[in-house]
Amino acid sequence: MIYDHILSTVGNTPMIRLQLEEFEHIHLYAKVECFNPTGSVKDRAASYVIKKLLENKEIDQNTTLIESSSGNFGISLSAYCKLSGLKFICVVDPCISPVNEMLIKSFGAEVIKVTTPDENGGYLLNRIRKVKQLVEEIDNSYWVNQYGNPYNAEAYYYSLGREICNDMDQLDYIFLGISSGGTITGVSRRVKEKFPEVKVIAVDIIGSVIFGHPPLKRYIPGIGSSMVPDILNHSKIDHVVMMDEVTTIRMCHELLERHNIFAGGSSGSAYGAIKKYFKENPVVKQDRPIHVVTVLPDRGERYCNNVYNDEWCKDFMEHHAEKKEI
Ligand SMILES: Cc1ncc(COP(=O)(O)O)c(C=O)c1O
Repeated sequence: MIYDHILSTVGNTPMIRLQLEEFEHIHLYAKVECFNPTGSVKDRAASYVIKKLLENKEIDQNTTLIESSSGNFGISLSAYCKLSGLKFICVVDPCISPVNEMLIKSFGAEVIKVTTPDENGGYLLNRIRKVKQLVEEIDNSYWVNQYGNPYNAEAYYYSLGREICNDMDQLDYIFLGISSGGTITGVSRRVKEKFPEVKVIAVDIIGSVIFGHPPLKRYIPGIGSSMVPDILNHSKIDHVVMMDEVTTIRMCHELLERHNIFAGGSSGSAYGAIKKYFKENPVVKQDRPIHVVTVLPDRGERYCNNVYNDEWCKDFMEHHAEKKEI
């Protein structure tokens, strides 16, 4: 197959069977999203949001897009804005990894770094304030707002959700990591149309406030949030598994050792959540195996300064040993 552009290869990622020896009645399948053109699931959201905004004339060729993101969404938006000839300003904070900052700039976006912590000790509130200030100041500008933009969830309904439905003949459980809530909102709605009995399990990280838990400092980017996303109101979630970062790191290492998958932090969280859930809720043998799907949102390279840095991990494990759960 020949494509016009590398960025048009978004989607149609492989679904991989993973052997889970300790759960013989479970067949686990993982959608491996690092196969997207800029390396993460967020290419689905960025490409779709920009397409819809242009189609519906909510923006035009002279609009400046603005978003607060230090991670995958910032990278994806900068790539797809460049493709569409749109200006993009990415508001980041000092926690951004050097590789992510370099990628966002390389795709041509302007990076504005907020350096003053907000009243919660983090940067989120000040990043959002900066975005709002820029929208006020810049004529014909548009805040993408992944936490509240319905196109973010719609992207996953029409792409990832549809593909999972096409990939699977049976689906009993789906485990999805959560940050802006776009993935789980779109995918949960789609899979429940084909598989009304499927259990949708949200995977969040301790320290995230999405499901009413207290805010705590988090070290691994990509999963969790310091605010409750509005788009989640439309999701269909049956259960939540809260993971800790120590277990997340161990599960990333296990994905690599056992399954040869070099994945990002939230993939370790999702994989660990599956093991934790079925240890606490064992499945009894039925006349057919239980089919479980998860999504591995990105690849390990973006976590070389934490999850895959031996010294960082040793230090982190020593200081956060009490968080060990599985
Ligand atoms: C690595 C990774 N995992 C999971 C997610 C969660 O996806 P969503 O924002 O759609 O909830 C993201 C989102 O940025 C991510 O970058």
